[in-house]
Amino acid sequence: MKDYIKAFAPATVANVACAFDILGFAVDQPGDEVIVTPNDKSGITITSITGDNKRLPLDPKKNTATVAVQAFLDKLGQKDVGLNVEINKKMPLGSGMGSSAASAAAALVAINALFDYPFSKRELIPFAMESEGVACGSKHVDNAAPAIMGGFVLIRSYEPLDVIEIPSPENLFCTLAHPILELNTSDSRRILKKEINLSIAVKQWGNIAGLISGLYSSDFQLIGRSLTDYIFEPTRSFVIPAFNEIKTAALSAGALGCSISGSGPSLFALSDSKDIAENVANAMHEAFLKGNIQSQTYVSTINKKGAIILEER
Ligand code: HSE
Repeated sequence: MKDYIKAFAPATVANVACAFDILGFAVDQPGDEVIVTPNDKSGITITSITGDNKRLPLDPKKNTATVAVQAFLDKLGQKDVGLNVEINKKMPLGSGMGSSAASAAAALVAINALFDYPFSKRELIPFAMESEGVACGSKHVDNAAPAIMGGFVLIRSYEPLDVIEIPSPENLFCTLAHPILELNTSDSRRILKKEINLSIAVKQWGNIAGLISGLYSSDFQLIGRSLTDYIFEPTRSFVIPAFNEIKTAALSAGALGCSISGSGPSLFALSDSKDIAENVANAMHEAFLKGNIQSQTYVSTINKKGAIILEER
């Protein structure tokens, strides 16, 4: 066994407008770092968490990173191993950018490296399901799967888990705009309607199929036409200040489409060039400012690597 593994996992955009709980993609930044080192005790100890303003639990049974690690150890039948886990949060909590999934993904690739890779990246996803269950009461992995694997990832089925990597065009860029406020995923799931009108569902299915098809064929116009969420955005956007203004600003600046990132409050937009993605970032930032809201923006390509090892010894 190695002595020290430091891993990074990126932020992710879940839902991608129309594909609630079944599609997500990874960006280059921000992201979280996790360091795992063996110790001579038994059980998992969280030695420190930085970047969270002391808000995340140090109890390993309640922290998403260590819940994922415990699920990994249980599967391997490793009952007596002792581990120190250090979590460096480098992205905001409750942002809709997959913060809990990033910590779990980084922890999983780190522990997998420590044990000399008993699992493929794909095989790590079920462990992240456990941690997402603890983080927000729902075992969705549309953040964790792309945070681990990179790129666009489709969860065709949860039972049994069927995860499919979807290609994307080289010059597809994402702009993320994060207003400095927090939304808790379990709260923003609770407000969702439980029933869907059939004619609206038909429109949504068309968009999901169109988006996947556009990603395969690098058809930017089709990607843009498909980035409409008829079901969840109308409900969730009410709690995001100036949502319509921000979205209009992104589209006017040339974005192919724009919607809520995950459960919000961040918004994402996709563009077909870096210049446009940067203009979109400025436009979104300005629109938030007009509503007296500070925001942070990130421009990135689609991150095809997902979680990576930064250092090992
Ligand atoms: N699909 C999840 C949701 C993602 O929208 O609730 C949470 O980030």
